[in-house]
Amino acid sequence: MEQFIMKGGNPLVGEVTIGGAKNAALGILAASIMTDEDVLIENLPDVRDINVLLEAIQEIGASVDRIDRHTVKINASDIHEVSVDDEYIRRIRASYYFIGALLGKYKSAQVPLPGGCNIGSRPIDLHIKGFRALGAKVEIERGAVLAHAIDLVGSHIYLDKVSVGATINIMMAAALAEGQTIIENVAKEPHVVDVANFLNSMGANIKGAGTDIIRIKGVRKLHGTEYSIIPDQIEAGTFMCAAAATRGDITVRNVIPKHLEAISAKLLEIGCEVVEFDDAVRVVGKPKQRHTNINTLPYPGFPTDMQPQMTVTLALAEGTSIVTESIFENRFKYVDELARMGGSIKVEGNVAIIGGVDGFTGAQVNAPDLRAGAALVIAGLAAEGFTVVDEIGYIQRGYEHFEEKLRGLGAQIEKVDSDKEAQKFRLKIG
Ligand code: UD1
Repeated sequence: MEQFIMKGGNPLVGEVTIGGAKNAALGILAASIMTDEDVLIENLPDVRDINVLLEAIQEIGASVDRIDRHTVKINASDIHEVSVDDEYIRRIRASYYFIGALLGKYKSAQVPLPGGCNIGSRPIDLHIKGFRALGAKVEIERGAVLAHAIDLVGSHIYLDKVSVGATINIMMAAALAEGQTIIENVAKEPHVVDVANFLNSMGANIKGAGTDIIRIKGVRKLHGTEYSIIPDQIEAGTFMCAAAATRGDITVRNVIPKHLEAISAKLLEIGCEVVEFDDAVRVVGKPKQRHTNINTLPYPGFPTDMQPQMTVTLALAEGTSIVTESIFENRFKYVDELARMGGSIKVEGNVAIIGGVDGFTGAQVNAPDLRAGAALVIAGLAAEGFTVVDEIGYIQRGYEHFEEKLRGLGAQIEKVDSDKEAQKFRLKIG
């Protein structure tokens, strides 16, 4: 079983380049099957969730030509199957995007109910409400969502809760519906805007992405395109927190600083130096960092996907910080692992009360999910001595060559898959 082993206690210093946004890529890949023409996608992150989605696209009959690690050409003219199902696709959350994409193009879809990280209950009732409003019949049978329509017809949809997945999914189906769809109370995340831009580059007519209301004029069909995915806001934020937690100095390159404002603001508040460039952000950690409070919210609020990395940073700051998790109720599972490293955090419901400590000590810990896994690696790199992070499959779902990028910043970290290799690392590092 693969693990990360690291020896922490040194500041991370240097430059790191951020890849394409995983969550934008998942929507864009699913949407790429909505045309019969060639679609070329660039700046694709080479991570597990993406590779699983590409396999599923191939399974249903589309051709997937991996031009290089970050570029793929997809042609969906030969899709023979509107039923997506394999054991892997069940495990990734974004499999739900096939419902919107297939329903839009073929007016029929059969997709297993999604899996993904276990960070709380993750219903898809809003997605279903949207598809029904467009005239589709949607049922859940034997663990799968079955959706079909004679015709999809534009509609006025109000989302009771701000949901990234529901916004993107309904937008995809509505792009090929008849007439106008208005979706209110939509998610404004950068990846929602990126998927809308991608669909527009295929000939869709979507306006308002990035605001609270999206207006879509349905078109009859979509055409081929070439598109480059935006940089990953969460990968960037993770390295920014790594700079802060290890008291390092990292320049994070290939980012859109505007997308990182909520994270930058909190790092400034605790006393870090944050310098924005056109397409880079430099974070300099300080020996004494202060406490603050955080409440996770939909964009432009503080992202829930950055909550664990920021909590680790605050656990090493002076004073008491309060972190409220407003999006997913089960996102503090890593706190027990952090306690094994000397963290002092009390969780009450969706609130974590963090008593800052002077330092962590290395321990063997388990990654409970993707972002918490990355946060534990940051903790390990800030800790004195050796830390082993187990279950790193979660981390590999969303971070490309995480350990290599960290090594480029001076981290002593390796991926190992046996006790013998771990022992070798300990002897080598000393
Ligand atoms: C996406 C991201 C995930 C991120 C999350 C919030 C992908 C593949 N995943 O997940 O990394 O943490 O946005 O930024 O892009 N909800 C409902 N009913 C629904 C849908 C959602 O009640 O039909 C609730 C959820 O339980 C949650 C909230 O709405 O409390 C937001 O969820 P949502 O934005 O939909 O998250 P995902 O799209 O699953």
